[in-house]
Amino acid sequence: MSDIKHTKQYSAQTNLIHGGTKRSQFGETSEAIFMNSGYTYESASIAAQRFAGDAEGFIYTRFGNPTTKMFEDRLAMLDGAAYCYATATGMAAANTSLFAILKAGDHIVAGRAMFGSNLYIADELLPRFGVASTIVDGRYIQAWKDAVRPNTKVFLLESPTNPGIELVDIKAVSQICKENGIILIVDNVFATSILQQPFELGADIVFYSATKLIDGQGRAMAGAVLCNDEEIADQILTYIRQTGPSASPFNAWLMLKGLETLDLRVQQQSRNAAKLADFLHGHKHISKMLYPMHESHPQIELAKTQMSGGGNMLAIEIAGGQEQAFKFCDALDLVLYSNNLGDTKSLICHPATTTHQRLDEDFRQELGITSGLLRLNVGLESVDDLIGDIDQALARL
Ligand SMILES: Cc1ncc(COP(=O)(O)O)c(C=O)c1O
Repeated sequence: MSDIKHTKQYSAQTNLIHGGTKRSQFGETSEAIFMNSGYTYESASIAAQRFAGDAEGFIYTRFGNPTTKMFEDRLAMLDGAAYCYATATGMAAANTSLFAILKAGDHIVAGRAMFGSNLYIADELLPRFGVASTIVDGRYIQAWKDAVRPNTKVFLLESPTNPGIELVDIKAVSQICKENGIILIVDNVFATSILQQPFELGADIVFYSATKLIDGQGRAMAGAVLCNDEEIADQILTYIRQTGPSASPFNAWLMLKGLETLDLRVQQQSRNAAKLADFLHGHKHISKMLYPMHESHPQIELAKTQMSGGGNMLAIEIAGGQEQAFKFCDALDLVLYSNNLGDTKSLICHPATTTHQRLDEDFRQELGITSGLLRLNVGLESVDDLIGDIDQALARL
């Protein structure tokens, strides 16, 4: 099996096509799928050397597989990371990045506006294992500063946030981390490293739900954890090796192929979303529209400094609350109702009754997840068709 070693000299777009490729003796053009759980060894002593870490080679698919490794290496190149580990889902990646490095007695600070399951791990699961947590309004740098304790080990944030499209100043938060010896973990699912490079902004660990834009076609679940520090990488690998949140090689292959078109898809979906944001802003049935690069977004200056595009996600609040929001969703023809995101198909959902149903009402209000709020995943369809569909559904209100 040959390793392509020269791709670092090429641009990100080229590396998304060729990066990490390992060709077998058959010289296949498209990357091969290695659907095997174990490996054979030419001799017992070679097996012993591999287990001791004295010889290179795969041992067991739970912690290493050629197809999975191609996906990991390609994604690592895109993110500018030295280490990448694929996981079974995005939540397995979130869970791995936290449980691999935290221990009882540590303290974590997390942004309050996050995907519900991230919040659950930070706020409910970790405290059960003796890790104290503080949840802050991540938009305010002072809130992160004030939350630091002598035992604070990790800051966890998501930007832009799901579903409220709030931003967190990653560079400013990373500065606090550096001053206090804290590890900064960033969930980069909404932007992907096509639009936002968290390592350049000071993150120590970045994780993804590859299920979303990396696959981009709603086909399979996977995740990934990336870092640059050898000690952190060892802890993550040990955690994956011993507890098994690993990706299936088949799903890793789907994600590998997804990466080939990631740049094209994210750029075009982002352009579609920006046009839809212009159309939706100020519409008489819409009381609020949130899109990072729109002039009306309260954090547009920050968006311009840490993102190169607004992404494909936007939030709208339908005037008239849940009843009108449901009526609007049901009147859509092209835009499908689904709680998934990152797909080439445009999808809409009502977070208060789906993804964020578990949160109590007061907390939902604080996060801006009102009864009229809808999260829109803008797909790859013709933007004129999308505008037409949304226009006809709004006209029915
Ligand atoms: C921001 C964010 N992080 C993490 C996840 C979890 O990903 P997965 O569904 O692949 O476990 C999601 C899922 O929607 C998400 O939106």
